[in-house]
Amino acid sequence: MGAGPAIRQIGVRLARLSGRCQKPHAMTDQTARPRSFAASAPLKGRIAIPGDKSISHRALMLSALAVGTSRVSGLLEGHDVLATAAAMRAMGANIDRTGDGEWVIEGVGVGGLLQPREALDMGNSGTSTRLLMGLVSSHPITTTFVGDASLSGRPMGRVIDPLSQMGADISASPGGRLPLMVRGLAPAVPIEYRLPVASAQVKSAILLAGLNTPGITTVIEPVPTRDHSERMLKGFGATLDVEVEPDGTRWISVMGEAELRPQTIVVPGDPSSAAFFIVAALLVPGSDVTIANVGLNPTRAGLVEVLKAMGGDIELLDAREVGGEPVADLRVRHSLLRGIAVDPAVAPSMIDEYPILFVAAALAEGTTVTTGLEELRVKESDRLSVMAAGLAAIGVRVEESEDGLVIHGTGGDPLPGGATIAGHLDHRICMSFAIAGLVSKAPVTIDDMAPVATSFPNFEALLEGLQR
Ligand code: S3P
Repeated sequence: MGAGPAIRQIGVRLARLSGRCQKPHAMTDQTARPRSFAASAPLKGRIAIPGDKSISHRALMLSALAVGTSRVSGLLEGHDVLATAAAMRAMGANIDRTGDGEWVIEGVGVGGLLQPREALDMGNSGTSTRLLMGLVSSHPITTTFVGDASLSGRPMGRVIDPLSQMGADISASPGGRLPLMVRGLAPAVPIEYRLPVASAQVKSAILLAGLNTPGITTVIEPVPTRDHSERMLKGFGATLDVEVEPDGTRWISVMGEAELRPQTIVVPGDPSSAAFFIVAALLVPGSDVTIANVGLNPTRAGLVEVLKAMGGDIELLDAREVGGEPVADLRVRHSLLRGIAVDPAVAPSMIDEYPILFVAAALAEGTTVTTGLEELRVKESDRLSVMAAGLAAIGVRVEESEDGLVIHGTGGDPLPGGATIAGHLDHRICMSFAIAGLVSKAPVTIDDMAPVATSFPNFEALLEGLQR
């Protein structure tokens, strides 16, 4: 990264740009929406949760790079995914939503992305930002990325490093943050890159850059992370090879200058969204809830395994495959959970589920110990410190360490509650404390539920349906 003067110069240009950036159409409501959640009657019934966020982003991006028309059903229509759709439109793809909720995407072909006329507004979405930075890095275009206060505080150095090695010229705000500008290089340089952090976003950014790069681009992944990019790239016809060493390290290689064939994709339900209702049903006495169509890709299903190990009654029904991903319906009944030491090795397969696991642990019998979670500090908020502070505020005995939380559960007794929680623009913090409110003596208030629309727009409606 260039030193002082370059950053200052880019700072001035970026400030000018952020005033006139393209806006995803649904990202207009900036008003805070506080809401209280109180002790709940048993949750009963059957719900279907919205489409998987990770898969939805990738479905839009790869469809926009295919030659021809792809169709996507079950797409998550949350703000994060709409930010990706708006960005792909701004770079030349035709993207429409039909009356029956199907998305139809006419791609521009690999290498065919056009320079957007304005800065791309990524809103709150780290996945949009990092994956799209990869995509544009190997195109001969200059792209500026801006985002909200949460996203603008998150580290982008982890993608700037490998993408710069491939030849992209990236000028970022201090600390490798947004706003930033990517000047792509075509042809880019293929690299072999060992991931220094377990991150599917970094892996995917490099593979997407590799799509339009001559030769073979390889990502070496010592710890497996979600593999939706690999599955979907293969589905679209890219030549992608995965070799696994005896110690589990994965070498993932993509052949560049690929031609992607349009696809029809069905997006399964998001296990990270299902997580809130799984835990709610386990915690609220008398509950019996079936959650239909939950994606259970082994790289995402860690929470279900951990909750079962804690004594959770979770039954997998009708296991099947949807859109190349394993899926099942989950029947979840109220259970008294036992605290455990959570193996840090499962962290990548449930990285987004720790906030709600901490709430489950708060009602367990005994102590739950979590470690190996430094990555939680650079999510939409610092999820270790924000969860520790919020849990303490509602009467949970919690200790925060550098890489995890230790939580002493109530043994099934309700939490004291009675506090207002700052959500810090983090959807998963807001939803976790909403569920905590359902098992608290005094209501728990979330200062702003608006961020929930980034990943789970009908969260509150589904909850209310189960309470009727
Ligand atoms: C995601 C990867 C994870 C996850 C995020 C979605 C993805 O981030 O936390 O919500 O779709 O690739 P990291 O790759 O930073 O762990």
